[in-house]
Amino acid sequence: MTTQDIVDSPSRTVIRDAYEERLAAYWNTKQNDPVNLLLGEIDGLYHHHYGVGDYDPAILDGAPEQREENIVRELHRLENAQAELIAQSLAGLGPQDRVLDAGSGRGGTSFLLHDRYGCRVDGANISEYHLEFSRRAARQRGYQDKVRFHFRNMVDTGFADASFQGVVTNETTMYVDLPELFGEFARVLEPGGRYVCITWCRNDLVADSSPESEEIDRHYLSRMHRRSTYFSALAETGLVPVSVVDLTSEAIPYWELRTHSSHRTGIEQPFIDAYRANRMNFLLIVAENMSPR
Ligand SMILES: C[S@@+](CC[C@H](N)C(=O)[O-])C[C@H]1O[C@@H](n2cnc3c(N)ncnc32)[C@H](O)[C@@H]1O
Repeated sequence: MTTQDIVDSPSRTVIRDAYEERLAAYWNTKQNDPVNLLLGEIDGLYHHHYGVGDYDPAILDGAPEQREENIVRELHRLENAQAELIAQSLAGLGPQDRVLDAGSGRGGTSFLLHDRYGCRVDGANISEYHLEFSRRAARQRGYQDKVRFHFRNMVDTGFADASFQGVVTNETTMYVDLPELFGEFARVLEPGGRYVCITWCRNDLVADSSPESEEIDRHYLSRMHRRSTYFSALAETGLVPVSVVDLTSEAIPYWELRTHSSHRTGIEQPFIDAYRANRMNFLLIVAENMSPR
C-alpha cells in the first residue's frame, strides 16, 4: 500500500441521490437470492452477472433428482466463462499491477482476476451487504491485503490519478451516467491502461426502446443505455476501443437454460426475446486510455 491509496472515509458522500439509495437498498435486501448463492457455492466464486456460451443439452435428460443440480452447475460454468472473457482481455497483467472492479458485487470477478494474474484488485460498491460478503470471502481466501472492497461510488472512487493498470465493469454500467463513469475511469487509469466492459444495452439501431428493455429496467431498477451511448461516451472521455465483441447470440443459451431451473426469476423471457430480435445486445468492449492529461 502507498500513502496515495484510498482510505475508506465516512465523510465522503458515496450515495448521492434517491435513485442510488433505492439501488443500494435493492442490493442490500437481496441477501438470500437462491440462484446466485447456490451457483457460488460450487467453487466459492459468487457472481451477479449472467453467462455466455452453449450449455450441454444432455443435462436436461438426467435423473429428475439430479436435474436441478446439473442445471445450476452448468449456469455457473457459463457465468465463469463470462468472467473469463474479462480476464483474457487483461492478458499481460502481473502481480505488480492493480485493477479496479467497479460495482464489484459479491467479489467473483475480483477473485478470478487476482487468481489469474496475482494483481491487486480494488472493488468499489455502494451495497454494504455486498461489501460485507466480499470482504468476508477475501478473508476466507487469505486475500485481504490483495483484494479489497471499498464503500465507494464507481463514478467518484477517490482513488489517485493514474493508479490502475486495468478497470473492469461486469454488468454494472446500467446504473450510472456513462460520460461521468468513463471520465472517472480515464482519470484513475494510467495512460494506455485497459478498460474492459461487459454489458447489456438497447440496440438503438433496431429499437430505441422495447417492452423487454422496459421490463428488465423495472425488474433490476436499472437504466439501460443505448448501444451508441457507450461509444459516444468512450470517445468523449478518451477511452479508445481496441476490441468490441457482440456476444448477443452467445448470451441466449444461458437464459434458455435458466427457464428450465426451478430458481428462474421470471426475467428470462424478456432477455431471450430481446436478444433473439436483436432489440438488445450483450457486448464485450475493451478500450485503452488515451485521455489527454
Ligand atoms: C449486477 S451486479 C454486478 C456485480 C459484479 N460486477 C458481478 O459481475 O458479479 C451490480 C453491482 O453494482 C453495484 N453498484 C450499482 N451502482 C453502483 C455505483 N454507483 N457505484 C458502485 N457500485 C454500484 C451494486 O451494488 C452491485 O453490486
